[in-house]
This record gives sequence, structure tokens and C-alpha cells, in this order.
Amino acid sequence: VRQALAGRPIVLVGLMGAGKSTVGRRLAARLGMVFRDADNEIEAAAGMSIPDIFAVYGEAHFRDGERRVIERLLHEERMVLATGGGAYMDETTRARIRAHAVSVWLRADLDTLMRRVRKRSNRPLLQNADPEGVMRRLMDARYPVYAEADVVVESREGPHEKVVEAIIAAL
Ligand code: S3P
Repeated sequence: VRQALAGRPIVLVGLMGAGKSTVGRRLAARLGMVFRDADNEIEAAAGMSIPDIFAVYGEAHFRDGERRVIERLLHEERMVLATGGGAYMDETTRARIRAHAVSVWLRADLDTLMRRVRKRSNRPLLQNADPEGVMRRLMDARYPVYAEADVVVESREGPHEKVVEAIIAAL
């Protein structure tokens, strides 16, 4: 795996609830790499939570910060980076990831995503009367783009270790 990466970081992409942070942390531990979570880094840089950034400054401002933070993080070596669900949709960010990292799409079905996001209410895009409808529309809009990732792995219910193993096998 180390050789296949040739020093490039591993970047996890996929929708909210795909398991990017949980799987990313375990993958990094397994490979002896550093784990970073872009959403956490954005919050640290802004000194605000993501819901507050959206509420006070709006999504476009969040996306600008997200682009800068990921650009900076991509210089790190021996790193697994979990990105927020929208990061890979940004053309500039996607080009950077494609040039400097190995991208892994954690693909999950609607039921799995909804079950996982129900546990946490820190996602402004889902603060909506019909979160499932929002998720469906995001799947339609984003899956063709996520599909450009270097590696695609199914992220099902069940032990995250299986997903970690599937990624390692695919790298
Ligand atoms: C977003 C996903 C979130 C976070 C923000 C926007 C999105 O990250 O970046 O709420 O556009 O899909 P997670 O995918 O880690 O929940």
C-alpha cells in the first residue's frame, strides 16, 4: 500500500453518513498514518462550528474556507484525510485532490446514510423538513462526480473494519 501511494495522502470522499470520519480514523491507525478531518480543521481555523459558519456567513463562505483548508492539508504526507461531503464537488478542490492524492469514494445507499446521519444534527444541509428528500437529491447530483474517485468502496452497515480492509485491498 505504501508503495502504491508513493507519498500521496489518501482522501475519503462521499456523502454525509458514508462513514468518512470513522473509517478514515481506523484506516490511518491501521496504516500508521496521521488522520485529519477537514470539517474539524475548518472549525478550528474559523473558531466556529460548521452550523454557525453556515448560519452567520453562508454556505459560499464555508466553501471558500473548505477549499483553502484542503489545499493546505494536501501538502501533508502519510495522511488519511476525511473531507466534508461537498468538498469533492468543488472543481478546484477536486482537481487538487486528483493531482496530489489517492481518492476513495465511500458509497452507501440511502437507508444506510439516513440511519447514520439521524444520530447527529450538526449538518446544516439536513436541517430541513424533508432530510431524506435532500439526501436523495444530493445522491443524484453528487454520485456521478464521486464516481471519478480513484477507488470506490461500498460502505455498508456492519463493522467498519470490513470497509477498512476493502480500501486496503483496493489500493
Ligand atoms: C456537507 C457535509 C458535511 C459538512 C457540511 C456540508 C455537504 O460534512 O462539510 O455540513 O455539503 O455534504 P460530512 O460529510 O462530514 O457530514
